[in-house]
Amino acid sequence: MQLDLRDLSISEKQNYLQHAVAPRPICFASTVDGKGNINLSPFSFFNLFSINPPVVIFSPSRRGRDNTTKHTYENVLQVPEVVINIVDYEMVQQTSLASGEFPKEVNEFHKAGFTQETATMVRPPMVKESKVKLECKVLEIKSLGESGGAGNLVICEVLLMHIDDGLLNEKGMIDQTKLHHVARLGGDWYCRVDESNLFKVEKPNVKLGIGFDALPSSVRLSKILSGNDLGQLANVHEMPEVDASFDDNHLKQIIQYYSVNPEEMEKEIHLYAKKLLSQGKITAAWQVLLSV
Ligand SMILES: Cc1cc2nc3c(=O)[nH]c(=O)nc-3n(C[C@H](O)[C@H](O)[C@H](O)COP(=O)(O)O)c2cc1C
Repeated sequence: MQLDLRDLSISEKQNYLQHAVAPRPICFASTVDGKGNINLSPFSFFNLFSINPPVVIFSPSRRGRDNTTKHTYENVLQVPEVVINIVDYEMVQQTSLASGEFPKEVNEFHKAGFTQETATMVRPPMVKESKVKLECKVLEIKSLGESGGAGNLVICEVLLMHIDDGLLNEKGMIDQTKLHHVARLGGDWYCRVDESNLFKVEKPNVKLGIGFDALPSSVRLSKILSGNDLGQLANVHEMPEVDASFDDNHLKQIIQYYSVNPEEMEKEIHLYAKKLLSQGKITAAWQVLLSV
C-alpha cells in the first residue's frame, strides 16, 4: 500500500504516522501561565536534538477536532520556562490521567496525584515522582501551521538535570537497565524498556566494517542468514582468513555427515553460523562459514 498524505483526513494521518513513527519518548511538561496557574501534560512528540547547546523539542499540537490550542502551548508563550519530567513505567497510568482535557484553572498535579517539587532555576514545579527532570528555558516556539493537527515546536534549552541517585552506576552515570522508560506508539499502545528487552549493538564508527559487498556471495545470498546476521558478519574490520587452529567438534560432525551432499552441508553450516552469531560469537561464525 502507498499513501499520499494529501488524500488523508487528520485522524487517518495521525493514525498511520503515530503507529509508524514509534516508539516516542514522553515529555511530561509542567508549565505555568502569567498568573502562576500550574499545568502538567504529556507530549510524545518529543526528542533530544542537540547536546551542545543541550536542546530538546516537544510539540503541543492544535487539536484536530476544533483547531484550539493546548494550555501548555499558551503557557509557554506567557512564561517561557518548562520542566520536562521523564516518564517511567511506574508513572504511566497517572501520566495518562493528566492528559485529560481539564479546564485551564485545574492543576493536573492534583488530578493525577503527583507531588509538586520546587525547581531551582525555573518557575514551573517538578514532578517529584519522576526519576529524571530537566529544567528548561524556552528558546523559541515555532508553529508548523494554522490548521487542526498542526504542531507547535517548543524548542527548549536544558539548564539543569535532576537524576535519582538510584539510577546511577558506580561512575555516576545513568545505568540504562535501571531506568524503565515508557514510550508511546500508535493508538493506545505503549512499550516499557527494561532489561528483558534491552540489547546492545556495537558502534561501527571507529573502525569501518567490511560491508555487505565484501561478503562472499554464498554468505550474502544465504537463504538461512538474515539481515541482522549478515550485518554482524559485515561489521568485522577486515576479511577474516581461515584459522588452521580453529577446532570445533560440531563443525567436524557436519562436514563428515554431509560430505556427500554439499547443498545440505552448506545449509547446516549456515544454520550453525547463525546460532553462533545469536550468541555473539562472530569470529567462530566466520570460521565455520570459511570452512567450506
Ligand atoms: C502519552 C501521551 C502523549 C501525548 N502526546 C501529545 C503530543 O505530543 N502532542 C499533543 O498535542 N498532545 C499529546 N497528547 C495529548 C495531550 O496530553 C492532551 O491534549 C492534554 O490535554 C494537553 O493538555 P493541556 O491543554 O493542559 O496542555 C498526549 C497524551 C498522552 C497520554
